[in-house]
Amino acid sequence: MKRTSDLFHSFILYVLNLCSYVILTHSGANNLHLMDGTSTAEIINGDLFFEILDPVELEYTYRIRPAKDFGAPFNESFHIKNVPLVPVHPKYGCKPPDNLDDVEGNVAFVERGECSFKTKSIIAEKAGAKAVIISDVDNSNEEYFIEMIDDNTSEEVNIPAAYLMGKNGLMIIKTLEKLRRNYAIINLPVNLTYTPVHRMNQPPWLGW
Ligand SMILES: *[C@@H]1O[C@H](CO)[C@@H](O)[C@H](O)[C@H]1NC(C)=O
Ligand SMILES: *[C@@H]1O[C@H](CO)[C@@H](O)[C@H](O)[C@H]1NC(C)=O
Ligand SMILES: *[C@@H]1O[C@H](CO)[C@@H](O)[C@H](O)[C@H]1NC(C)=O
Repeated sequence: MKRTSDLFHSFILYVLNLCSYVILTHSGANNLHLMDGTSTAEIINGDLFFEILDPVELEYTYRIRPAKDFGAPFNESFHIKNVPLVPVHPKYGCKPPDNLDDVEGNVAFVERGECSFKTKSIIAEKAGAKAVIISDVDNSNEEYFIEMIDDNTSEEVNIPAAYLMGKNGLMIIKTLEKLRRNYAIINLPVNLTYTPVHRMNQPPWLGW
C-alpha cells in the first residue's frame, strides 16, 4: 500500500516538473518579462515599446508604461523614428535643462526624484521635447513599473510621458556615460505589426 502511494507521489512530482518545464521554456521562447504581474493582453492594451538603434550596446527593445492620467496619448499620430533620446542635465529635470539645445525636438530622458512626474513632463515640454521618458535610476534593482499619476498641478502636459523600469534606465545612463555619448537613437513606439511581441529583443540584464 505504502509503495503504491509513493509511486503515485513520484508520478505527481514528475507531472509537476514537466509542467514547470513547459511553462519556463514557453516564457523563455517569448522572452517577455512580466515581473509586475501583467498579462500579455495588458501589454498590448496599455504598455508600449521603444527600441534603441544606436549605440549597439543598448540595441534592445524596452517596455514603457504611459502616464496614467496626464500627457498626450501615444496614439496613431505619434511615432518617431531615428530620434535622439537625451538625458537631461540636471538629471531630475525639475528646472529647465542646461542642455536645452540637445533636448529640443527630441525625447527627454529624466530621472525620478525631487519633483513630480507631471512637473518633469511640463518642463520637458517647455524645453521642446517631443516626449518624455522617466525612470527610477536610483532604485534600479527593482524590476517593476510605477504608475505616473496626476499631481493636480493645474497646468496641462501636451506631450506623451512614459515610465521606464529603473534597471533599464540605469543601464542606458551607465552605457551612455561609459561611451561618453549625450544621447541614444530610438524609434518610439516599435511597430508591433512589423515586430510581433514574441520576437522582440528584450534586454539581457532583465530577470529569469
Ligand atoms: C493624437 O493625440 C493628439 C494629441 O492629443 C491629437 O492632436 C491627435 O489628433 C490624435 N490623433 C489621433 C489619430 O487620434
Ligand atoms: C487630486 O484631486 C482629486 C480631486 O480633487 C483628489 O481626489 C486626489 O486625491 C488629488 N490627488 C493628489 C495627488 O493630490
Ligand atoms: C507598421 O508596419 C506595417 C508593416 O510593415 C506597415 O504597414 C505600417 O504602416 C507600419 N506602421 C507605422 C505606424 O509605421
